[in-house]
Amino acid sequence: MNKPAVWLTRRIYEPAVQKISTVAQVEIWPAEYPPPPEVILEKVQGLDGLLTMLTDPITAAVIENAPHLKVISQMAVGFDNIDIQAATRHGIPVGHTPGVLTETTADFAWALLMAAARRVVEADREVHQGIWRAWGPDVLTGMDVHGATLGIIGFGRIGKAVARRALGFSMKVLYNDPKRDEQAEKDFRVEYRNLDDLLQESDFISLHTYYTPQLHHLINRQRFEQMKDGAILINTARGGLVDYQALYWALESKKLAAAALDVFDPEPIPPGHPLLHFPNLIITPHIASASTRTRQNMALIAAENLIAGLRGEKLTYCANP
Ligand code: DGY
Repeated sequence: MNKPAVWLTRRIYEPAVQKISTVAQVEIWPAEYPPPPEVILEKVQGLDGLLTMLTDPITAAVIENAPHLKVISQMAVGFDNIDIQAATRHGIPVGHTPGVLTETTADFAWALLMAAARRVVEADREVHQGIWRAWGPDVLTGMDVHGATLGIIGFGRIGKAVARRALGFSMKVLYNDPKRDEQAEKDFRVEYRNLDDLLQESDFISLHTYYTPQLHHLINRQRFEQMKDGAILINTARGGLVDYQALYWALESKKLAAAALDVFDPEPIPPGHPLLHFPNLIITPHIASASTRTRQNMALIAAENLIAGLRGEKLTYCANP
């Protein structure tokens, strides 16, 4: 009997590819960059399984063009690039990779928080460019992290891992989430706040919520206005959560001391984008989960989900409601 046909939209960790090859005929998009949407649309027609990245738009049209598709396996925890409702309507399970990237992503949110607070990127640039002349009482002074108030929006796995790290910095930690978690409030010594209060009280605001169309531009001009003067915004979640015109206003008016973004909308940020002239804006290219080990583990879980779906078994991590 012929092996099922699967397509990987990017080359992933080789042991994961080998695992999939034991049960399926594997084809891999050869480029370093994502396949264009029209290639995905055409390619899915003959597929039994599809392994995707967060850069691949898996729209209702793609799903409707895939009469044999048994499973979509996304190598990411987020899956806002996939029309889950359309997949569910067509009986297609969608896998994703939660859990394995929690700690790595929390580490990176902290890297951004520390870098923004203490102006590490600006300082490094000044030294590299030969601008640094001498130690000075006001040279590159930043904001203390210890003892400050951290507001976490989205208190799932990653939000909690960020909160746990804040204990070591003697921070006061506030969180906002649709669900209150009283056990976590005790475990991590965090306090629940409604969004308005969290924005008004926090020195650092870190986003850890899923993106949904309802949360588009959650952080808009009005939300920036509510923040403390000199607050710092960190986003390692999804770019669509922030209104970038409003962020421009917040940086230009010095309402914010700094911002640090690992995600943007669109990605990549267009060259010459007006935000890029702010030295107190750190932007990294969506790498919060990018430790070698975590990316390997994500690939292995994506492979397992894909294989389970091809076999008609329950996926270990399934995104469908
Ligand atoms: C995810 O998994 O959703 C991150 O954004 C990338 O690892």
